[in-house]
Amino acid sequence: MAFDLTGRVALVTGASRGLGWSAARALAEAGATVMLNARGEAALAEKAAALEAAGHRAHVLAFDATEAGAPADGIAGILAAHGRLDILVNNAGIIHREALPEHTDDDFRRVVELDLIACFALAREASRPMTEAGWGRIVNIGSVFSLIARGNIPGYVAAKHGLAGLAKALAVELAPAGVTVNTLAPGFFATEFNAGLKADPDFDAMVRGRTPVGRWGAPDELGHAVVFLASEEAAYITGATLAIDGGMTAAF
Ligand SMILES: NC(=O)c1ccc[n+]([C@@H]2O[C@H](COP(=O)([O-])OP(=O)(O)OC[C@H]3O[C@@H](n4cnc5c(N)ncnc54)[C@H](OP(=O)(O)O)[C@@H]3O)[C@@H](O)[C@H]2O)c1
Repeated sequence: MAFDLTGRVALVTGASRGLGWSAARALAEAGATVMLNARGEAALAEKAAALEAAGHRAHVLAFDATEAGAPADGIAGILAAHGRLDILVNNAGIIHREALPEHTDDDFRRVVELDLIACFALAREASRPMTEAGWGRIVNIGSVFSLIARGNIPGYVAAKHGLAGLAKALAVELAPAGVTVNTLAPGFFATEFNAGLKADPDFDAMVRGRTPVGRWGAPDELGHAVVFLASEEAAYITGATLAIDGGMTAAF
């Protein structure tokens, strides 16, 4: 079977809803044992139970990815329980929308802390068992704002561009050890993250108009791409940024 992840152990951050849940479910369906991370434990437990009920393997691993030491402790826990970590999906992310004059250092810093620095710390810690095993997959969930920009979200655009750059840097460093590092760049997906925008008829029409396929992404459409990049078959893809955006960044 192509894209078979049986025997692999995966960590997905921000797995309790939205795109992280899509990634976690798709990885579990492909055979991986999936560690579900977010801060809220109850929502994770519900998702883990749903995967277990469907015959898959999933565990809850709640921590705040921005907390000092949490990525190292979380990954040490995975190694203690499972003896390996093959796949990391750096998905947890936030956004802060505010015009530049009112946009504070703290607003900017909070976004960069989760969307970039926590991803760096998680990738560093995950790379240890991966390089030791001679195999690993790190998939960053960037954004179309890893490639293009929009006003009022400077921290998000900077962090997501940085995340794609980080993937390239780590891809170069880790390739000899059999570890690939890539970035997926989703366009506009209908999740809680941008429920407010989706509910705004003008914004909704703008997204549909700017997207050649003419609609928002469905969260389910992300998980399959994560499985592909996490698979053996994607061994020759590293340092890449792959847009999953209905053609948005291809269109003028
Ligand atoms: N939706 C889109 O259109 C879109 C487009 C492009 C890129 N993206 C990117 O895709 C990723 C997921 O977006 P989404 O739409 O699925 O967002 P979402 O629905 O808001 O989900 C965010 C997830 O991250 C978790 N989380 C938040 N802060 C965390 C922290 N400090 N530590 C650990 N987990 C944390 C949340 O759970 P807790 O609150 O319980 O921690 C939740 O599970 C983000 O990186 C986002 O930038 C989304």
